Amino acid sequence: MSQDPLVVFTPSGKRGRFAKGTPVLTAARQLGVDLDSVCGGRGICSKCQITPSYGEFSKHGVTVADDALSEWNAVEQRYDDKRGLKPGRRLGCQAQVMGDVVIDVPPESQVHRQVVRKAASARVIDMDPATRLYFVEVEEPDMHEPTGDLERLERALKREWDIPEIRAESSLLSKLQPTLRKGKFQVTVALHKSHTDDVARVIDIWPGLHEAGLYGLAIDLGSTTVAAHLTDLDTGEVKASSGIMNPQIRFGEDLMSRVSYSMMNPGGDQEMTCAVRDAINTLAEEIAKEAGIEPHLIVETVFVCNPVMHHLLLGIDPVELGQAPFALATSDSVAMPARELDLHAINPRARTYILPCIAGHVGADAAAVALSEEPGKSEDLVLVVDVGTNAEILLGDTSRVLACSSPTGPAFEGAQISSGQRAAPGAIEAIQIDPDSKEPRFRVIGCEKWSDEEGFDEETAATGITGICGSGIIEAVAELRMAGLMDESGLIGSAEATGTARSVPEVRTHAYLIHDATADGGPRITVTQGDIRAIQLAKSALYAGARLLMDERGVDKVDRVVLAGAFGAHISPKHAMVLGMIPDVPLEKVTSAGNAAGTGARIALCNVAARQEIERVVREITKVETAIEPKFQDHFVAANAIPHKTDPFPELSKIVPLPNVSFNTGGDGGGGEDGGRRRRRRRA
Ligand code: FES
Repeated sequence: MSQDPLVVFTPSGKRGRFAKGTPVLTAARQLGVDLDSVCGGRGICSKCQITPSYGEFSKHGVTVADDALSEWNAVEQRYDDKRGLKPGRRLGCQAQVMGDVVIDVPPESQVHRQVVRKAASARVIDMDPATRLYFVEVEEPDMHEPTGDLERLERALKREWDIPEIRAESSLLSKLQPTLRKGKFQVTVALHKSHTDDVARVIDIWPGLHEAGLYGLAIDLGSTTVAAHLTDLDTGEVKASSGIMNPQIRFGEDLMSRVSYSMMNPGGDQEMTCAVRDAINTLAEEIAKEAGIEPHLIVETVFVCNPVMHHLLLGIDPVELGQAPFALATSDSVAMPARELDLHAINPRARTYILPCIAGHVGADAAAVALSEEPGKSEDLVLVVDVGTNAEILLGDTSRVLACSSPTGPAFEGAQISSGQRAAPGAIEAIQIDPDSKEPRFRVIGCEKWSDEEGFDEETAATGITGICGSGIIEAVAELRMAGLMDESGLIGSAEATGTARSVPEVRTHAYLIHDATADGGPRITVTQGDIRAIQLAKSALYAGARLLMDERGVDKVDRVVLAGAFGAHISPKHAMVLGMIPDVPLEKVTSAGNAAGTGARIALCNVAARQEIERVVREITKVETAIEPKFQDHFVAANAIPHKTDPFPELSKIVPLPNVSFNTGGDGGGGEDGGRRRRRRRA
């Protein structure tokens, strides 16, 4: 007796024998091969496309004859006429196995297809969203066997998709009957399956086959900006990204001032909650419009945010987060209907997921960074720093991950800097100071040329040279140190001491003049002693946080450093190390991860198992509270020197010799180490 035909699927390598006439989709399902289908094999969704291969396959021990699959049928022809199938493709639900065959499942036909992140890192996202579409044929009502439409829908989902139980809200029930009849009892249902319970919630229903897709919003809710990525829940593709300012800024620039606003003003927390929810609705409407997508097709939102934003989003007074022991109302993830957050611009039954918080000062944004950068899967000891107004710091490897948050303040973003500005055309973003002539050359955003190159003046004529952004000020301070214009304590030397007229007196201290356009009515851009002080405070807080985690871990060096966040993407690792912002590692071991928190939000949006994973990871992270840790203060003071008072920087000294100069003339000079001792807790 001849054997049943052998079917080999690639790339999975899964194989099995099936009776002649078995549809390829059925064979795939029985073998657990990842082949998509929304219409359940009716030949209308085209999700099940496959590519058969013909000929000799010694690797698989198979010879595939031309008639290994059934002939191209009318359903495939109709689909090809209407939409077009790529050459060589068949519909897996239509093509039947007739002989031994090798079948490739192209990436777009895989349910759990992978989406490669655009960023430099090769991280991929496995598509496995919580909300999916299911096409079903529901039995028509029968007077002799009375059952409700919902019950027959449930029966159909069980029969065709093996979904045991569904739950539908009353708002869905009101559209169920007209939709079923409009679709002649064929409908597409969007079902949301949570990772915490087995219930499938009906999010929406459409007559016939719904082809307009489903979308989700991954939202990075920051204290200054709210950024959203509108993501296709089928492909993982980001259809549009957009951001707006967080309107809560009018209640306080940084987080602690928002907490105090809430303390001082009864109902202040509710005002801030309303403001941020309104902003999210506006953002959702705008981003859907930009992508040309109906807002009701947005069926999921995922939020990452710091603890104060987390509470204000949820409508919880953040007052407890303003004082020790910094108790969160809940540190677990939150899953709920989006309308409980007043998100009325999207589907009325859309779901929301908020990542868990790590601790009272280490929020869901840090959890998202952990999800994206996976320090717990690193073989070597990695320090992940998400630099913002607050720095979120993670240290770990496969054995253990630690986390803390450190109040760096806004100096790294160009705020509280005399010539500081946000990163916009005209801002100095990179600078070099010649160690011999002590002359600067710089680049501004919007122009590729350096300031001493031909054509620079013409190319910057439109924007002008307007100030220094965050990455520019870091480079400027580090360059002052490298050029011997500033000493280890952060003091700028006088013109006499440094031999350059660019060192100009400023009150009782000195400033370094980078660019003077006052003759033409433009700005005079300097780095003042006050600017250096602000940078010292910020970098000391960052380094002290990292050091505290290293102490906790019992190490005095790390293997590599990942700089995350928009700012991390632009910062020069060499200059960051000269400043002593980050621990000493070989320069090639410092990498940038881009917007890791936003990526973490997208991963949680596209992959429901990732939610379970980050909930587990967060439970296992060791939390370190910088605010109450006495050693933080010692580390903070020692880190005030540039690069550091006591910690050696051997890797740095291999590539950058730092001049041994001192400009302390005995007066207070505005510099020295005292200025850094003021302990602040600024969070934003
Ligand atoms: Fe829908 Fe084949 S499963 S077209």
